[in-house]
Amino acid sequence: MTLIDGKKTALEIREELKKEIDSLKIAGRKLPGLVTILVGDDPASGMYVRSKNKACAEIGIFSKIEKLDENTSQADLLKLIESYNKNENIHGILVQLPLPKHIDEDRIIQNINPLKDVDGFHPISVGNMVIGNKTLYPCTPYGIIELLRRYKIDTKGKHAVVVGRSNIVGKPIANMMLQKKDGANSIVTVCHSAAGDLSVYTKTADILIAAIGRANFIKGDMVKNGVVVIDVGINRVEDPSVSKGYKVVGDVDFDEVSKKASYITPVPGGVGPMTIAMLLKNNFEAYKRIEKID
Ligand code: GUN
Repeated sequence: MTLIDGKKTALEIREELKKEIDSLKIAGRKLPGLVTILVGDDPASGMYVRSKNKACAEIGIFSKIEKLDENTSQADLLKLIESYNKNENIHGILVQLPLPKHIDEDRIIQNINPLKDVDGFHPISVGNMVIGNKTLYPCTPYGIIELLRRYKIDTKGKHAVVVGRSNIVGKPIANMMLQKKDGANSIVTVCHSAAGDLSVYTKTADILIAAIGRANFIKGDMVKNGVVVIDVGINRVEDPSVSKGYKVVGDVDFDEVSKKASYITPVPGGVGPMTIAMLLKNNFEAYKRIEKID
């Protein structure tokens, strides 16, 4: 069994990007810029935004956090987005989700310039992804494809089973696995909470992508021998043996499933670190496209 080390792979990607940005600095060129917009005081969102900001700074991407009050109106948020759509030093705009209830998330996403849509959530980005055009891809699924590529896992003609149908992971990864491209070209099944007995589907998976949001949900008897397992879950479970009182586990029961898997991502240290690395990659891609650099 090979453990897929997302932390190490994410570091490699960050190093590669840093080298490219260092050479832009040496050439005296404009550097890439990202703005992250955070509305309200949700502690988890605040933590994610700060990690994204720090990761940018480490590789030389200029980054700015716009922290807005919980009661900010939709009109004011739209005005701010419009100002960054026009800002020539900003190549990526990320509005941290979820937004407060009085703001229409779809409306906000649709007002981000698709060229700066580093989350890959704009309907134009999603449409291009489905067609197979080059675009900005949602960061977590993009990170999964990158892990499959870098570990040279054979995906062509294999049966990829995705459990979960969210707009952030399930739907986009199913579409990306379908594309006739490296790290994909698979036969894809998507299953979800309406499936009844999910194991009917998961047992047939050569590649199992679990994005369910339930701790340790996939058990050893739900997979076949030799399966490649990508665990997207991040779930807190109580653990009185550690001082913070909880630990983070995936959607896959690692102890059971790792005994049957050929490859598996751990939680933490699997898909999670890849998400930020791919955000940086998207921001660099957006920069190159906007600044017309090959
Ligand atoms: N909230 C949780 N995940 C994400 C993400 O990938 N992007 C944004 N913008 N918000 C999130």
